[in-house]
Amino acid sequence: FRTIRFLWRLTWLSALGGFAYLAYHVYDSKNPPEQLGFDPTKKTLVILGSGWGSISLLKKLDTENYNVIVISPRNFFLFTPLLPSCTTGTIEHRSIMEPLRHIIRHKKRAVQYYEAEATKIDAERRVVKISDFSDIKGTVSETEVPFDYLVVGVGAENATFGIPGVREHACFLKEIQDAQQIRKKVMDCIETATFKDQTEEEKERLLHMVIVGGGPTGIEFAGELHDFFEEDLRKWVPDIADKFKVTLVEALPNVLPMFSKALIEYTEKTFKDENIQVRTKTMVKKVTDRSIEVEVTQADGNKVKETVPYGLLVWATGNAVRGVVRDLMGQLPAQKNSRRGLAVNDYLVVDGTEGIWSLGDCSATKYAPTAQVASQQGNFLARLFNSMARTQAIENELYQLDQMRQAATGEEEKARLTAEIEHKGRSLSKIKQLSPFEYSHQGSLAYIGADRAVADINWFGGVISSATGGELTYLFWRSAYVSMVFSLRNRILVLTDWLKTKAFGRDDLNRI
Ligand code: FAD
Ligand code: NAI
Repeated sequence: FRTIRFLWRLTWLSALGGFAYLAYHVYDSKNPPEQLGFDPTKKTLVILGSGWGSISLLKKLDTENYNVIVISPRNFFLFTPLLPSCTTGTIEHRSIMEPLRHIIRHKKRAVQYYEAEATKIDAERRVVKISDFSDIKGTVSETEVPFDYLVVGVGAENATFGIPGVREHACFLKEIQDAQQIRKKVMDCIETATFKDQTEEEKERLLHMVIVGGGPTGIEFAGELHDFFEEDLRKWVPDIADKFKVTLVEALPNVLPMFSKALIEYTEKTFKDENIQVRTKTMVKKVTDRSIEVEVTQADGNKVKETVPYGLLVWATGNAVRGVVRDLMGQLPAQKNSRRGLAVNDYLVVDGTEGIWSLGDCSATKYAPTAQVASQQGNFLARLFNSMARTQAIENELYQLDQMRQAATGEEEKARLTAEIEHKGRSLSKIKQLSPFEYSHQGSLAYIGADRAVADINWFGGVISSATGGELTYLFWRSAYVSMVFSLRNRILVLTDWLKTKAFGRDDLNRI
């Protein structure tokens, strides 16, 4: 009985603890604290971008030490791992957006935000030129922002490799607007295919969803599309059931090159079961408004050209360097051999500059351009800036103590000050010993449809690694992503969306 009573109390205590935690976070999120104002004695730190890298930095940065300015055309943080789920309405887009205003209002010192794009970084004059490209503009829509320190976290743009027709006819999957566009187009294709007197050939074209790129973006989108078809479309629009087709086109011999061989095979087999056609060794060469032209490498090495009609085309072939980054690279001779982005040193300082750092997809490091890398780099830079500020503060104190020691007359006072200087000197050298950035790979996860996911996970800092795929991995994928969503509000919204979809199906049948 004692044990039962103990367990009962423990349950109550945990429930109470959980409730208190929830209540505190709800209260805290709705009641931002008083903030410190601009301090002219502090350095100005300008952060470009509001993505994984920049926001991870901002969240951990002690803003008391700097006047911080954030510049980004996007006034929210986007949780990209769940973006493919927004294309079919499994998750609502607002659930994975976190307002930047919420984040900056919770910092100790007020952070200035400008909704704008950095159009040029002048490394020599130490200013960033910014432009407001939003629909509504004031009399001033272009200006310059000076900086003492600059962090470039502008991410990357979609790679098209200059293939004609891609920008005009394909949808991408990087931003929230992309997911919304796909969402609209899928349903538009379906409603148009069922238009009166539509020919069979045209129906087939309209209902052919083609995805180019067998990286994780293309794979996850294909999985979501399959679920939408199987769980909703098949039931509500039965006339299209035998014609709806998903094809994934990949130039390399296999999809998901970053995963282990077993998981690649598992994914390809699952796609076969899901009736998703995977066409490897097939490179897209040209895109028109209704078809793609591909070059297929056959088993004997011969290359054959083919035209593939499509209704919806989603282009997911990785990253390219943004214009503003390319321009900065052009200003710096130290960057002349870098191709994939800004070359940085072990502390993420942009090669050839002083006081300019870069992180995430716009920097060129030995790591893959992932959210995991960008957020760890953001955390690293926050530690670096916090320790730089502490170093500065201690150096100022040391200077003052030294002045006092020189002015002191009594031996006792001199000895006391010397001891204090030595003590502070020791803590200063400890703070200065910040080791270079080191990435700790936690593993890779991808959703592949039909309630299955694949995972190459490193446990305990890489001591144990496991490669798994299936339904259990899918549950792991869900819990891992929900725990990674930054705020409690978004976590609750994502969970509610999943429940809503399970209970009532997807909202996507409405074409808004
Ligand atoms: P981003 O997050 O892209 O942020 C860039 C920011 O810069 C944005 O706020 C943008 O508006 C802003 N910006 C752009 N131009 C300018 C400018 N000129 N001036 C100022 N600001 C500018 N990675 C994983 O590790 N796991 C996953 O599961 C995963 N899933 C993904 C799913 C999808 C669909 C996609 C597209 C990517 C996924 N990734 C994933 C990759 C991950 O999203 C990126 O690696 C990550 O976003 C990079 O972070 P970043 O801060 O460098 O750039
Ligand atoms: P990617 O670079 O990983 O894959 C792009 C694929 O497109 C490549 O396999 C390439 O061979 C193929 N390709 C290129 N040109 C082609 C052409 N003309 N015709 C046919 N195929 C062509 O790009 P992706 O998927 O957009 O990912 C970008 C980054 O984001 C990667 O680093 C990835 O790891 C990360 N990411 C991670 C996710 C996860 O961990 N779940 C999800 C989504 C992205």
